[in-house]
Amino acid sequence: PLVSMTEMLKKANAEGYAVGQFNINNLEYTQAILQAAEEEKSPVILGVSEGAARYIGGFKTVVKMVEGLLEDYKITVPVAIHLDHGSSFDKCKEAIDAGFTSVMIDASHDPFEQNIETTSKVVEYAHSKGVSVEAELGTVGGQEDDVIAEGVIYADVDECKELVERTGIDCLAPALGSVHGPYKGEPNLGFKEMEAINKIAGVPLVLHGGTGIPTADIQKSISFGTAKINVNTENQISSTKTVREVLAADTEVYDPRKFLGPMRETIKKTVIGKMREFGSSQKA
Ligand code: G3H
Ligand code: ZN
Repeated sequence: PLVSMTEMLKKANAEGYAVGQFNINNLEYTQAILQAAEEEKSPVILGVSEGAARYIGGFKTVVKMVEGLLEDYKITVPVAIHLDHGSSFDKCKEAIDAGFTSVMIDASHDPFEQNIETTSKVVEYAHSKGVSVEAELGTVGGQEDDVIAEGVIYADVDECKELVERTGIDCLAPALGSVHGPYKGEPNLGFKEMEAINKIAGVPLVLHGGTGIPTADIQKSISFGTAKINVNTENQISSTKTVREVLAADTEVYDPRKFLGPMRETIKKTVIGKMREFGSSQKA
């Protein structure tokens, strides 16, 4: 069933695992992620960036597509449709009105007081509709769709506490050195800060830039209160490799299902691997 992230993440925190947010780019991504979740009996969060929603058709198309698949695939595990890196109150409201069950308001690039103001407004509207809210502090490095970061700025521990208290958000993404897209070398996450934030924030934490983080760091993050890990690039890289292989092996192929089908299989496999790594398998 379609649910918000709130209960999903509380349970994950309590039982010591993380729920994956897997970004969807089209129909096949959505199919693959839902199939993986059902097979693994894992809760799952479908991450939808504003760019991906535009590509697919709009927020309404996303919701109808997901609802259709939930029925046709007879999905029984908890599924959240989550706006990833929402850029404004208006975008969050648009997603909520279309039927999203969760939104992220990313006002992390704004001054602190403005971040609080925008985030509070989103929380007030979202909670009136039973929708969960994620907010961000600091800067995640790299680039994802429209979100481009100049440099990596670590979230401030005291600001995290204040943001949670003054806005009532359901989960917090403190940027602590993670990067969107592949890492140049090994990631260097701020675990000291993560531990401190976890002690005072009082809400589940979110780790962005999940692609390329070693398993030991994933486990450490979970032990410091991380209940949601976002993955996009890893599915894109692994599945595009499959498409290249299929097209290279048969230069005569023209039926899109002949290469999009294998692409979908690779996404499913990649997602299943992540669910097992994050410990969310068999937790639905
Ligand atoms: O919000 C989405 C994620 O943070 C994705 O990061 O593409 O590096 O896996 P990634
Ligand atoms: Zn992100």
